[in-house]
Amino acid sequence: MKFIPLSIPNFEGNERKYVDEAIDQGWVSTGGAYIRKLEEKMAHFLHVENVAACQSGTSALHLALVETGVGPGDVVIVPPLTFIAAVNPVKYQFATPIFIDCDDSFCIDPIKLQEFCEKECHFDGETLFYKGKTVKALIVVHVFGNMADMVSILKIARKYNIKVIEDATEALGTKYTDGPLKGKYAGTIGDFGCYSFNGNNVLETEMREMDRDFHTNSNQENTTISKTNTEQLIHQGCSKSRCLWPWCGGSVKDSSRFF
Ligand SMILES: Cc1ncc(COP(=O)(O)O)c(C=O)c1O
Repeated sequence: MKFIPLSIPNFEGNERKYVDEAIDQGWVSTGGAYIRKLEEKMAHFLHVENVAACQSGTSALHLALVETGVGPGDVVIVPPLTFIAAVNPVKYQFATPIFIDCDDSFCIDPIKLQEFCEKECHFDGETLFYKGKTVKALIVVHVFGNMADMVSILKIARKYNIKVIEDATEALGTKYTDGPLKGKYAGTIGDFGCYSFNGNNVLETEMREMDRDFHTNSNQENTTISKTNTEQLIHQGCSKSRCLWPWCGGSVKDSSRFF
């Protein structure tokens, strides 16, 4: 039987040079020039203001949930066709994932989403409840380079006061070419956008397969989380002036993108 690889990493540029540089400079754990470079380049590419590198796609999604205020007893809507990282962090927050099916794009189906909100939930004009639990957020996963129908999904989410977190890992670079969201990239439309740079994704910046504990500069950059509103930034591997991690002590009030 012929083996078909899921993805083949393409190291044809300066990757080795940059890893060597990071090691030579000693920036192999929580910071370094490449983190900032990645954030700036991603912000430029996605046409967003600020980005923050996280430790992994999973942690980016987890932080987005924390920022959204998802906690014990809440409900988060997720698609069934997804890498599990879109679901696990919901459990980390002791919330309940509710699965809504996908449409022909393989992404969450806005028609089924609307049906769920309308027929299975109760909306009191401010909060959506499912079996007495608050529906706080919806995680949209754009799979296989496709983008979910974000126009319809946003409309529903705004109507029912649900925050939208995009996992745009598999659709980095996908954008609307017409319609009301023309020019908008996957991951820049909802309240938060997350991108994993795991080795089997569109872009890879890590060496986790070698050793989970071996961190290079680029290892710290392996994931991005983006955010459209302007509350605060949580950023692992940042400079102190712009971080809200409890052990870091900096603060940020005007960032609009997390990576
Ligand atoms: C769509 C999607 N989301 C999230 C992740 C998780 O990212 P990480 O492995 O960086 O935690 C992956 C991993 O490949 C993924 O494919």
